[in-house]
Amino acid sequence: MTTTDTPLYLRGHLAPVPDEIEARDLPVEGSLPPELTGRYLRNGPNPLPGQDPGHWFAGHGMLHGVRLREGRAEWYRNRWVRTEALEGHPFVRPDGTFDRAAVTANTHIVGHAGRLLALVENGFPYEVTPELETVGPRDFGGRLTTAMTAHPKTDPTTGDLHFFGYGALPPLLTYHRLDAAGELVTSAEIAVAGPTMMHDFAVTERHAVFLDLPMAFSLEAAMAGSLPYGWSDTYGARLGVMPLDRPGEVRWFEIDPCYVFHVGNAFEDAAGRIVLDVARYAPEDITAVWDSIGPNEAGHASAAAAAGVATLHRWAVDPAAGTVSQTQLSDQGLEFPTVDDDLAGRSNRYLYAVADSGTRAAVLRHDAETGAVAAHELGADVVAGEAVFVPAADRRHEDEGWLLSITTTRDGRASDLLVLDASDLSRVARVALPRGVPAGFHGSWNADES
Ligand SMILES: [Fe+2]
Repeated sequence: MTTTDTPLYLRGHLAPVPDEIEARDLPVEGSLPPELTGRYLRNGPNPLPGQDPGHWFAGHGMLHGVRLREGRAEWYRNRWVRTEALEGHPFVRPDGTFDRAAVTANTHIVGHAGRLLALVENGFPYEVTPELETVGPRDFGGRLTTAMTAHPKTDPTTGDLHFFGYGALPPLLTYHRLDAAGELVTSAEIAVAGPTMMHDFAVTERHAVFLDLPMAFSLEAAMAGSLPYGWSDTYGARLGVMPLDRPGEVRWFEIDPCYVFHVGNAFEDAAGRIVLDVARYAPEDITAVWDSIGPNEAGHASAAAAAGVATLHRWAVDPAAGTVSQTQLSDQGLEFPTVDDDLAGRSNRYLYAVADSGTRAAVLRHDAETGAVAAHELGADVVAGEAVFVPAADRRHEDEGWLLSITTTRDGRASDLLVLDASDLSRVARVALPRGVPAGFHGSWNADES
């Protein structure tokens, strides 16, 4: 039973499920495009029954998968990522070293070099099978000695996977690159001003951009058992631009303090500027959000109404002038920005996202050419998870394809896999899932090898 004393992250559409199930031949309303043949996989926190991890971000990772094949929804299944943390191993060993396999692996699942990796930003990736069974932690032959971000970037041309790891103790920030075959071929430490929570970064054809923003680590807070990361009025904010062919060489550019969990995309324009489209929180918005998702008692009562929102902003880093311009692209509150992954690091026209004001949720599409924001409205009682774009075969336009999102009723009782036409956000199909799926973080479409 949940009450108003139950933290927000354990109730309603965030309430964890108690078990692992499987269901076959799911009911489909509408018509699933036959070429959507593969698996939609999504990760998110799901504490074990009876556990309160103290923060929305701290629950054990659970994967939810929906198998589509030639117009049918073959199965749904959910599985915890069986990490060492799930088995009860501590992250800090008795000798003070870290067990980077004792983490929750709750944030994302991506495919690279034929392997599926469940990711969380403070530890090693966990390989899982296409049926969502855990294989084990991966450190790429012992070469990975830092954490791995949950937001690596695949270069659509080279197939390389660029990522980074950050930590509260040195090395504070390290850039890494896996080649297309899955070998860890580059690691380079990057000097930063201090330890901060670095959730995402940006990669273009020739540069990586690191976001050194003022959600700073506090040893005092960590020792007191509070959230170790929190807003700092003094840390400042900067973007670090690193040429991909000179790993470790970073030039920093000051920006106005803010926080960004998610970068939608980044690219280099004809003038040589490095452009990033981000879901940006003003200082008062990130502090409201941070209060609402953690153990702060005051935050729980009013979180739905008080939580701040991010809006889409564009930063243009001009290396020649040494400046960064900032433009707000829309006043629509949004999160979980996504684009066509074939355009990762290249200029894109369309960016997809989701909105939730507490009383209205929607899947959104921003058009960078016109500035227009289109919405697929879900009403007051249903929220949408991240919308993942799947391109149509032989498409002629960027937005020919579909958006996949798991929706959940606000009472947490029911979920669908929603399939939208990305070109007009109309609903193509809805797969009824056999249970309410707690709203989570990120996922990916994993097409069958053809
Ligand atoms: Fe994220």
